[in-house]
Amino acid sequence: MILSPSLLSADCGKLAEELAELEAAGLTWAHWDVMDGRFVPNITFGQHVIRQLRPRSRLVFDAHLMIEEPDRHLAAFQEAGVDRLTVHAETGRHLQRTLAEIRRLGMRSGLALNPATPLCVLDHLLDDVDMVLVMSVNPGFGGQSFIPASREKIRQLRAMLDVRRPDILIQVDGGVTPENVAALKADGADVLVSGSAFFKYASYREARLAFERNTA
Ligand code: DX5
Ligand code: ZN
Repeated sequence: MILSPSLLSADCGKLAEELAELEAAGLTWAHWDVMDGRFVPNITFGQHVIRQLRPRSRLVFDAHLMIEEPDRHLAAFQEAGVDRLTVHAETGRHLQRTLAEIRRLGMRSGLALNPATPLCVLDHLLDDVDMVLVMSVNPGFGGQSFIPASREKIRQLRAMLDVRRPDILIQVDGGVTPENVAALKADGADVLVSGSAFFKYASYREARLAFERNTA
């Protein structure tokens, strides 16, 4: 089980130090929630900020683009040093091309599905995707409550991937806490994103252990 802390809930006034603390605490991934104020109401950080932090961290940079027209920015995120780039299914008119382009640029491709987006959008994309992000809240804000119906969606996705592409990772994002990680792991999640529940711990080692304790 991989834990990917969402930097949205970190202290953005000292992101370099936050990244260093995460690494020292044994985390391996960092989740960048990129928002454009159009696909979602908020605006966060973009490729410029990520590029400046890249030399300061060895963590896997897992970027979650909540932006319209992601195709316009794929190369910029690759140049910024992103390792894994996830776009939303709802933003793509030519999703196969988008996912293939992410890979062509040398990144791992991810496809995020809003809570209302059905799994069948994946039917013809499994050759092009390395990770599916199941949103368990509607994107745009940290600190929202987990939507219970997401669990059945994760289970259905796990069953589909076990048959067709067991190598594809399932990431779950939104309302993930130490209290629900065991259930999410049992449902089939591989990567858990956590923002508010993770960063409320003063020690990130404690935070990691709180999540890991329940998924061991
Ligand atoms: C929501 C973001 C999430 C968010 C998770 O739009 O994609 O990554 O930061 O935050 P929590 O864990 O607080 O729900
Ligand atoms: Zn996210």
